[in-house]
Amino acid sequence: MAHAMNDLLEDDIEAYLDQHEHKTMLRFITCGSVDDGKSTLIGRLLYDSKLVFEDHLATLESDSKKVGTQGGELDFALLVDGLAAEREQGITIDVAYRFFSTEQRKFIVADTPGHEQYTRNMVTGASTADVAVILIDARKGVLTQTRRHSYLVSLLGIRHAVLAINKLDLVDYSEEVFDSIVADYAAFAEEVGLRSVVAIPISALNGDNITGSSPNTPWYSGPSLIGHLESIDVDDETVAGPLRFPVQWVNRPDLDFRGYAGKVVGGSVKVGDAVRVVPSGRESTISRIVTADGDLEMATAGLSVTLCLADEIDVSRGDVIVGKQEPPAVADQFECHLVWMAEEEMLPGRPYLLKVGARVVTATVAQPKYEVNVNTLEHVASRTLRLNSIGVCNLSLDQPIPFDPYEQNRDMGGFILIDRYTNATVAAGLLHFALRRADNVHWQAVEVDKASRAALNHQSPAVVWFTGLSGAGKSTIANLVEQRLFEMGHRTYLLDGDNIRHGLSRDLGFTEADRVENIRRVSEVARLLVDAGMIVLCSFISPFRSEREMAREMFETGEFVEVFVDASLEVAEGRDRKGLYAKARRGELINFTGVDSPYEAPEAPDVHLDTGGDSTAHDAAELVIAHLRNAGILSPPSVD
Ligand code: ADX
Repeated sequence: MAHAMNDLLEDDIEAYLDQHEHKTMLRFITCGSVDDGKSTLIGRLLYDSKLVFEDHLATLESDSKKVGTQGGELDFALLVDGLAAEREQGITIDVAYRFFSTEQRKFIVADTPGHEQYTRNMVTGASTADVAVILIDARKGVLTQTRRHSYLVSLLGIRHAVLAINKLDLVDYSEEVFDSIVADYAAFAEEVGLRSVVAIPISALNGDNITGSSPNTPWYSGPSLIGHLESIDVDDETVAGPLRFPVQWVNRPDLDFRGYAGKVVGGSVKVGDAVRVVPSGRESTISRIVTADGDLEMATAGLSVTLCLADEIDVSRGDVIVGKQEPPAVADQFECHLVWMAEEEMLPGRPYLLKVGARVVTATVAQPKYEVNVNTLEHVASRTLRLNSIGVCNLSLDQPIPFDPYEQNRDMGGFILIDRYTNATVAAGLLHFALRRADNVHWQAVEVDKASRAALNHQSPAVVWFTGLSGAGKSTIANLVEQRLFEMGHRTYLLDGDNIRHGLSRDLGFTEADRVENIRRVSEVARLLVDAGMIVLCSFISPFRSEREMAREMFETGEFVEVFVDASLEVAEGRDRKGLYAKARRGELINFTGVDSPYEAPEAPDVHLDTGGDSTAHDAAELVIAHLRNAGILSPPSVD
């Protein structure tokens, strides 16, 4: 049969490409280690499909482009898509995508290394897979790693699993061995919630039950591996679901055309359908479905198209066009699963960027409710998540997003977290449900507000945030500034690191996570004081840009003044009034800023004080006062 198609390939490239184009695509992942015969299996699949190899197809593709045949799209983009997104995010993931094809179907197999540190790679490979082939060495049976792989497969919502019991030749093609492994696995599959599991006895090395039924297993009457992969129906549930169309970009080449480009990730859409845009809630009807090959009447999940609406309504990138009757939930607090993918541990309280569909928002993660031991499935208490660990956490966003639970729609409920400064992907996550908490906690309206309190105080409330190394002179200068303001009749309050750590932050130490939490608490207190109409001075090492930025974002424009008290490590260490640097150097104090814990200097502080030279702390304080005066903070707010 492969032969017939090869002929076609030789004689009529256009007909071949056309036929190829109309085959369905199945994406699968292989789970197992080299020892289980994974490479052999992939090699075998590529070899037995005989028809198409990567480079072969690549040539075909470029040839077809050159001669300008239509239908030359060979889906190679799909091969690299997933990876390109990750690369942009600056993460190196060890996943190779391989392509092969049979007469019935095209396949993309994600091949991930099978060593212990596997989770991150597997999650990347599995996030777009329809099917997982879980390999078992017949001599060894169900192992810890089989359990781990199966848990991840189930967690990531892969609905179809194939248990490929390999190396059957080494156990004399024994039916008993096969049956006992299947029985063993069944109990476990149930536990992790894998519903559709098909077990196939194979020998990747000898080719048993790979493309056809093997004479060596007369007792087995099920499908061959390829036969099964060819027949799995994967699109059903997403296509049957409600319409979901995240807008990737707004296409507006001229005044006459406005279309919304993206991919249908759920349900289907027809011309004339009544739709709603979320989160705005605006409504319209579909007027056209545009593609490069002409207009369509209808588009179903999996297709990339441009939708046009009958009305001129406001739609932006990241919005989702949905069926009018079946809108998704919109929320800003969630419970989610997180798979941590970065070398740096998760910092509860730190703002990260969250990307779901085409939408990017800011998110903070609370301490994990628990971490999952992926080998035993036990829930373990944990304060953070480290590389390759998986946990359940609450998530809080700076604005509401439309979403569906990941179990219902992977595109609407799957997200990644990105570090705001390095732009690296630090985690992949699955949204489960919205927390109703926020719905029940309302803002209490108050009659006396910030403006009236500020007017009474004859000043514009603000926070003056001093950051710098220990010993740089923050507290000394902040103290002098407060004295001067007091003399001038201003209402002030000074929050100082050492003092706060005796009370409000008594329970915190100096790990990165604790420092993040310390700054979060202090910023919240400063916010209350600013609301009370005060000028608040904060003196904290506050070593991380991310948290200083978070603090800034909590205030209105102009209310947050960042003062960088800049002394080199040498100068600060030279002063060492508290003897802490000496202790740190002797190894008696760990995580000491500048010694074994980083300090990220501000890039664009509002005031930059160089305290290493001849100028005195008084001079420095005067510079701060001058800045506050120029910024209008020392006069009452103008009433408009
Ligand atoms: S921050 O990093 O969370 O902003 P904070 O300003 O509250 O730090 O506290 C810093 C003060 O704690 C320092 O002035 C110093 O006296 C004391 N300290 C004790 N241990 C450490 C440490 N490991 N690193 C930095 N400061 C420490």
